[in-house]
Amino acid sequence: MSVSYKDLGLVNTREMFAKAVAGGYAVPAFNFNNMEQLQAIIQAASETKSPVILQVSKGARKYANATLLRYMAEGAVEYAKELGWEKPQIVLHLDHGDTFETCKSCIDTGFSSVMIDGSSLPYEENIALTKKVVEYAHQFDVTVEAELGVLAGVEDEVCAAESHYTKPEEVIDFATRTGCDSLAISIGTSHGAYKFTPEQCTRDPKTGKLVPPPLAFDVLHEVEAKLPGFPIVLHGSSSVPQDEVDTINAHGGKLPDAVGIPEEQLREAAKSAVCKINIDSDSRLAMTAAIRKHFDEFPGHFDPRQYLTPARDNMKKMYIHKIVNVLGSEGKAE
Ligand code: G3H
Ligand code: 13P
Ligand code: ZN
Repeated sequence: MSVSYKDLGLVNTREMFAKAVAGGYAVPAFNFNNMEQLQAIIQAASETKSPVILQVSKGARKYANATLLRYMAEGAVEYAKELGWEKPQIVLHLDHGDTFETCKSCIDTGFSSVMIDGSSLPYEENIALTKKVVEYAHQFDVTVEAELGVLAGVEDEVCAAESHYTKPEEVIDFATRTGCDSLAISIGTSHGAYKFTPEQCTRDPKTGKLVPPPLAFDVLHEVEAKLPGFPIVLHGSSSVPQDEVDTINAHGGKLPDAVGIPEEQLREAAKSAVCKINIDSDSRLAMTAAIRKHFDEFPGHFDPRQYLTPARDNMKKMYIHKIVNVLGSEGKAE
């Protein structure tokens, strides 16, 4: 039996993004795979009264079970109210939907937003697939994120990656013909904790730390000029905090030369038409750092609640930091 997100207290992204673009901030889109991540996200959003997007990837659906994750997200709305957030502004979003069928199944079972990621397809095929999803989704007032341009993989040369940047000359045609509600673009971000190779970075002479090349703000500004006020999305936007990486490495981990997107650049992007910023890896790092440290300090502990409590607290601290200091979405969903 089909269920509408409206009956679950969720919202779509339309009004949320319009406000974010007008207000010069971005809405956080946090991925979740488990209860502790979801608790931390909802606590952080409720305490800061920030609109929030709960993202479920194909991998998350496989890991945790699609049905279970959906009901967890539904429970999240009630949990937010219990925490004192009277009118929670929570979106349940499919991250990187790969087929029409996956998008349809999410729309039919309570998602308020879906991404159809046709970025690896030839241009016309990306348009055809995105349009098909939009036509179905809009019947139910579900919003659709599309993607144009390919995010760099870790093997790509940064210069070569320029050829994968979104081509600003295509965005008007793409947005008009597909009818998508938001557009993910490629300006140099990428997924994971290794966004650039050491060769692509310079080294800070004082700290010896890697400094990544800047994002292609010129591409972002050209896209904004072509589509004024249109909601733009940035994937691959974890900052890979050095302190978390150091904690992991100091307690038996091995993440050499992990590097992310500097927060100042995300802050700048959030002030533009970028109204959704995707963060997953930073949550993984915060969780892993806390657990590794705990195991080192308390070798006798074996009750998962003992090590998942600091893990959850550390993720919550990171989510609040992003909301307050990077995306600027605090207090935007009072
Ligand atoms: O875009 C990728 C997200 O970080 C989700 O990752 O597919 O491993 O769940 P995943
Ligand atoms: P990160 O790997 O940078 O956290 O990106 C997550 C993402 O884009 C999810 O779609
Ligand atoms: Zn992504």
